Amino acid sequence: MTNENDIISQYGRKYASGEHIFKEGDHGEEMFIIHAGSVRITKSTDEGEKTLVTLGAGDFFGEMAVIDKGPRSASAVANEETVCIVLNEELFEQQMQRNAKIVKKILKNMSARLRAMNEQLQNLTTKDFNMRVVNTLLLHVHKNGENTTLTHKALVQQAGMEDNVSKLDEIIAAMAKAKVVSIAGDTVCVTSSGNIEKYKQYLEMKKAFGES
Ligand code: CMP
Repeated sequence: MTNENDIISQYGRKYASGEHIFKEGDHGEEMFIIHAGSVRITKSTDEGEKTLVTLGAGDFFGEMAVIDKGPRSASAVANEETVCIVLNEELFEQQMQRNAKIVKKILKNMSARLRAMNEQLQNLTTKDFNMRVVNTLLLHVHKNGENTTLTHKALVQQAGMEDNVSKLDEIIAAMAKAKVVSIAGDTVCVTSSGNIEKYKQYLEMKKAFGES
């Protein structure tokens, strides 16, 4: 019987922190499942490289180019030392044909991405920075759960506030004072999704009554 170690030694590939796994526009014939570590999916924009999402152990990426034979829609960069299980086109198609559960998982994942993108688009076009930060943290909690940390850098990127870092710091400090988040060194942690939902309602009320 094949065990996990066999799979890793046969299909595992190790990447150093900051190493490109592939670049946007590349031709791609492999898909990747993260075994350990994390991977940033980035896209180049007029304002530089933007992170779309940071994926962790158990997540997969790189399936789109294999499915539609188009170029890589985004770049993938190891966020730390990372090990991926790499499936070539043949293996990937074999798995999809044999296992309806895998097809369902991919479809579910793609639907979730589209949903997240719709929310992100709405969030990134709002000029209300308080709301941007709160929504970004809410998206993080919904995806990763309570008491999970987000680095300051990732928060800046995900809120699209690279040009407004001091404003973001001000907002986070106010949230920490209200005990909605805790700050430890370079990381921000949302301790309760209930509290952050209430904080969002508080901001909405303030706006409705003309206080901000
Ligand atoms: P592919 O186009 O092969 O290469 C880039 C990969 O990034 C893509 O497949 C998806 O797996 C992943 N990807 C692209 N856009 C997003 C997104 N908006 N959210 C999450 N993952 C994405």
